[in-house]
Parts: sequence; C-alpha cells; structure tokens
Amino acid sequence: MPTHHQIELGVNVDHIATLRQARGVSYPDPLQAADIARKAGADGVTVHLREDRRHIQDSDVFAIREQVDLPMNFEMAATAEMLEIAKKVAPYECCLVPEKREELTTEGGLSVITQQSYLTDYVGELKAQGIKVSLFVDPDEEQINASHQVGADIVELHTGTYAETAEEAQHAELLRIQRAATVAHDLGLQVNAGHGLHYQNTVSIAAIPELTCLNIGHSIVARAVMTGFYEAVFAIKQLMNGARLDSEGNGL
Ligand code: PXP
Repeated sequence: MPTHHQIELGVNVDHIATLRQARGVSYPDPLQAADIARKAGADGVTVHLREDRRHIQDSDVFAIREQVDLPMNFEMAATAEMLEIAKKVAPYECCLVPEKREELTTEGGLSVITQQSYLTDYVGELKAQGIKVSLFVDPDEEQINASHQVGADIVELHTGTYAETAEEAQHAELLRIQRAATVAHDLGLQVNAGHGLHYQNTVSIAAIPELTCLNIGHSIVARAVMTGFYEAVFAIKQLMNGARLDSEGNGL
C-alpha cells in the first residue's frame, strides 16, 4: 500500500458565484463559501477572475483576499488588465491559465513553449511583487521544462484529460501525470494539480507523492447543493408554516 502523504486542498469557489450570477442577486456569496472552506480544513482558496466576469467579480476577489484567512490562488489569463489587478490584490500566488480554456472542451493547459519570452517578462513582473507564480499546463515534459525556464515557481498539472477519459484509458493518463509530476519536482518546481477532480477520481491523484496541492471546485459545489438540498427544502416549508429564523437568518 502506498503511504499517504499530506496533500493540501485549494477550494475553488467560482461556481458559488455562477449560481449567484444566474439570478443577478447577492447570494450565494463566494466570500461566505471561502470562509466555510477554511473552517472545513481547506489550505487555500482559489478564484478565477475571467475576462468576461461570468462568475467571480472583482469585488469578490478583494473581499476574499481581505477577509478570509487563507492563502489565495488567483487564477487569471496572462493579460495586461489582469496584471494590474493582481498587483492590487497581492495574492499568495497567481495561476496563469489559457484565456478561453473553459469555452472549448478539448482545450488543454497553457502553451508556455509558444510564448516563452512574453511569459518570462510576465512571470518576472508578478514575482517582483512577491507573488508566487503557477502555470497551468498539460502533463507534458516540454511544457514543464518551458515553465521552469520562464521562471515559474509552481506548475499545476491539468487533470482534465484524466478526468474525462474512459475508465480503460484512465490508468495511462494517471501514469502520464505521475511522470510529469516527477519531471517537475526534479526541476525544483512545486507541483499542484487540478481540474475535473471529483469524489471518484481524486484519490489516485492525491497519492502521487510529488504533489503539494489539489485545486478542486465544481465537484465540491455540486455535492454541497445535493447534501444541502434536504435541509433547504425542509427549512422553507417550516418557515411557510410559522417557524422563525435563527440568528443567522437561516430557517430553523
Ligand atoms: N485548476 C485550474 C487551473 C482551474 O482553472 C480550475 C477551474 O477553474 C480548477 C483547478 C478547478 O476545476 P474544477 O472546478 O473542475 O474542480
């Protein structure tokens, strides 16, 4: 049996904001979710401020940074606009991701190889602010070498292909991630992983000894909705029938 090492969890609260933005109201609040994550043992909080602001808003980033006592992993595209925002936020770490990543299912990690000189300058600007820099890359040796060359502190290995692959081919993808983790670790990079990890596929990834942190979002939010649904239905029915709110405004 492999011995289990301590691995950190970064909780991505983007999809709490997705639910809020769907109605243009003030709840559910990713700030509150981040604090619950902290209480539950999360080691970090991740937010992705997208150029189109489809979920997380600028004000969420600042509120979480100021009010939640966890290291922030600020995910962003490597644009001029985001660099200015990152300087103001001063997160623990920035994770650079491809701009249109979530819009195309087949799209992978950041292509570091094709924009090495641009990223060398960009990474340098962030590091000069005392921010650690992570690059979200496919588990590919060339991308990892290039990440090291542009001065990244961390690579986050993209587990999306592993997560989406049919069961028969999943072992090969797991080996690919394991090999990539070794390559990155041997270069002196911190190695994180994430995307598409859920309650059935995370354990094998968490067992990779070189990994420091997993960033997980969608599956946690999805599970929270279901585990909380009974209580939520029960509470509104009680309210309708005369029950009072508790001190936090929740139905009893
Ligand atoms: N890591 C990175 C770099 C991401 O962009 C995301 C999604 O924003 C995640 C991890 C979390 O992915 P998921 O929501 O599928 O858990």
